[in-house]
Amino acid sequence: MLKIGLIGCGFMGAMHASCYKNIEGAELVAVADVRREKAEELANGTNAVIYATGKELIENAKVDIIDICLPTYLHAEHALLAMDKVKYLFIEKPVALTVAEGDALIEKATKTGAEVQIGQVIRFWDEYVALRDIVKSGKYGKVVNANFRRISPIPTWGFEDWLLDATRSGGAAQDLHIHDVDYTLSLFGEPKEYFSVRNTLGEKNSYVNTLMQYDDFVVTVEGTWGLPESHPFEASFRVVFENATIENAGGKFMRYDADGAHEIVIEKADLGVGAAGGNISDLGGYYNELSYFCAKATAGEKIEQATLKDAVVSLKFVRKEIGCND
Ligand SMILES: NC(=O)c1ccc[n+]([C@@H]2O[C@H](COP(=O)([O-])OP(=O)(O)OC[C@H]3O[C@@H](n4cnc5c(N)ncnc54)[C@H](O)[C@@H]3O)[C@@H](O)[C@H]2O)c1
Repeated sequence: MLKIGLIGCGFMGAMHASCYKNIEGAELVAVADVRREKAEELANGTNAVIYATGKELIENAKVDIIDICLPTYLHAEHALLAMDKVKYLFIEKPVALTVAEGDALIEKATKTGAEVQIGQVIRFWDEYVALRDIVKSGKYGKVVNANFRRISPIPTWGFEDWLLDATRSGGAAQDLHIHDVDYTLSLFGEPKEYFSVRNTLGEKNSYVNTLMQYDDFVVTVEGTWGLPESHPFEASFRVVFENATIENAGGKFMRYDADGAHEIVIEKADLGVGAAGGNISDLGGYYNELSYFCAKATAGEKIEQATLKDAVVSLKFVRKEIGCND
């Protein structure tokens, strides 16, 4: 049995706990949160030991892997400690607050031999996995242009409102838009050039739009969390190929070509549970990434997807987009 220690039992910690409860061979044996009631909620129905802080868990818990779902400004200091304790570490995205922190994590992982996966979950999301396969296959010709979009109401749930403080979260660009930047870089590599615009009306209105020039195609990546609470969360894409357009929008995954409009059907795993409070209606991508992580840890193998190095590349890109050189 793979013994899991989960640090941070808020919005994403709850999602991860739901996933672990559905991953065969995984057991949540320790949870930590400075808000005890949050830790108790996740420990409910398990034999998990509750710790008052992340550092207490790292010091004392008997675990095989540690999963850090803390606010971003706390990732690096906990991850550095955790790498002395366990070989397999999962850190939610964005990997860290600054580039210096990201580099320090790589250095530490190199020294300790820690295998680290980052929660760049889009790499594991069914439609995005299918899109990657389509691009790689070349079956619809070359990519002509692509658009990735992630728009959300203002995130008001964070512990001490950390999300709306750019000095603790990096703002919408680093917290939300980084998903699509990371995916785009993983699919197409770094663009030849890019131009990024964002507004400066404060975190509640945060909006970013980046135009990326590749050799013979362009990609736009748009993100905001400045929408009213009544507006649904949306993560969508449209990729135009020479011979077809693939679109994931409005809950439909479609191919449009000369023969008409075709729905692309992806078989989803039956997880036996409902949504755990996330901003999408199933555990799909989260379940997939954590299943992959647990399988690698169980087998003692290298993490090859959503690696620490990949995530630091994406962090560096986004920090530049928002004009931060640290
Ligand atoms: N992959 C995704 O789609 C996705 C979605 C949302 C959030 N996230 C990421 O997950 C991470 C957590 O975000 P969240 O929305 O769950 O935040 P949150 O504020 O809901 O949860 C963070 C939790 O950490 C706890 N905490 C704070 N300090 C602590 C400490 N020292 N020790 C133990 N617990 C402590 C808080 O009490 C809180 O319950 C962030 O990095 C965020 O960017 C990822």
